Amino acid sequence: MTLYQDLVGEFSGLIEQGVLKPGEKLPSVRALCISRRLSQSTVLQAYHHLEDRGLIEARPRSGYLVGAWWKQLPREPAGARAPRAATAVDVADLVFDVLEATRQRRMVPLGSAFPSPLLFPLPRLAQLLGQVARRLDPWATVTDLPPGSWELRRQIARRYLLAGAQVKVEEIVITSGAMEALNLCLQAVTEPGDIVAVDSPTFYGALQALQRRGLKALEIPSDPRDGVKLDQLERMLERHPVRACWFMNSFQNPLGGCMPEAQRQRLVTLLAARGIPLIEDDVYSELYFGREPPRPAKAYDRAGLVLHCGSFAKCLAPGYRVGWAAPGRYADAVARLKFTASISTNVPAQEAIARYLGEGGFEHHLRRLRQALQAQQNRMLQAIGQHFPAGTRVSRPRGGYFLWLELPATVDALELHRQAAERDISIAPGPMFSSRGQFGHCIRLNSGHPWSGEIEAAIRSLGRLAAAMA
Ligand SMILES: Cc1ncc(COP(=O)(O)O)c(C=O)c1O
Repeated sequence: MTLYQDLVGEFSGLIEQGVLKPGEKLPSVRALCISRRLSQSTVLQAYHHLEDRGLIEARPRSGYLVGAWWKQLPREPAGARAPRAATAVDVADLVFDVLEATRQRRMVPLGSAFPSPLLFPLPRLAQLLGQVARRLDPWATVTDLPPGSWELRRQIARRYLLAGAQVKVEEIVITSGAMEALNLCLQAVTEPGDIVAVDSPTFYGALQALQRRGLKALEIPSDPRDGVKLDQLERMLERHPVRACWFMNSFQNPLGGCMPEAQRQRLVTLLAARGIPLIEDDVYSELYFGREPPRPAKAYDRAGLVLHCGSFAKCLAPGYRVGWAAPGRYADAVARLKFTASISTNVPAQEAIARYLGEGGFEHHLRRLRQALQAQQNRMLQAIGQHFPAGTRVSRPRGGYFLWLELPATVDALELHRQAAERDISIAPGPMFSSRGQFGHCIRLNSGHPWSGEIEAAIRSLGRLAAAMA
């Protein structure tokens, strides 16, 4: 972290926690230089950065003030209620309908699950892919069979160290994206008919994976800030024979919650005491806006019961389909399942990503990506505050690129999805994220695309449609 980034992290935290309120003055540049022993250019760089993110405003002769738009932000969502029973899952049709809408190029992609591809270093990756393919060691097609490229697994083990976890290279299994890793882990720890606890709302991919394996979902309410509610989980574990948990602890999709560290520890202890495996679905953790990466629950695992799944799809190389699992005591089982499912992950793609990570440019890319995502999120929050009807609530995630909106109770999210699609705007309606058809008045919006007049107009248009139903 550079000095200016430290200052940015500190002030954005104070603003977001409400310690510094909208309209309040920040310390003058001179005062900060003296009190912190920083150079003027460091303080100015930090203030300019906060200004770019929309958090502060410069006023002639008054210095810097906290941006007034924070005052107009809608409240945060309330979240879900706990179910009485586990349910069979059937979300397939709705999910495919919505995904079809997001694939059309003409659509404003607010329902998409991907950030803009323009935010990734695709040209450099393409060069590396070319080099790798030209010089591919013919033996790599054999040595890179599961568990996968040694060099890529070594690079992934290094990233675990940076995030505060120790994972041996031997434990890591390379897969075709996190989705394959998650499916294989699920297969390693469950039998059809078992109950699996998931966040509520949850990523529709988790519901599809459960449906595919004939599992029942037990939806545990998730908090828009802090992730799965552990008191509720504990009560549910007493009542239901849960075979495994599948949780997204960092920047949960769709709510954006990030579980505090102490809670992660408690989660691991709670499950270890009952011998229940935790599948940790962790594809957004590199996209944090704070000072440090969230430490995965895997870091606290002593029993080998945490199966951690990650991916490069959201932070580096969307189309390369390279992800991994670090499945603890299930590592051998998952490597074998991987072999029987698809033999191996694309070898040139594995080697190209390993080289990119080895070159040392990843951190720089991630810093820019995080800054872009945070600035875009602020712009979208601001526009939602302006254009959506009174009573709308919206999440304020500290990472990732999803916003979760709870609209007034009379708004039908599926109808809103249909009307928006007619206007070439895609959205992700709430019922996609539940096995019980919950969240009928909620939507998920993607803030992962550079802000533009087109996106602003789409938000205005959605706000009007929602207002007409409210
Ligand atoms: C929470 C979550 N897990 C896993 C995935 C799938 O990741 P991948 O593209 O690496 O398969 C997604 C994709 O949207 C996701 O949101």
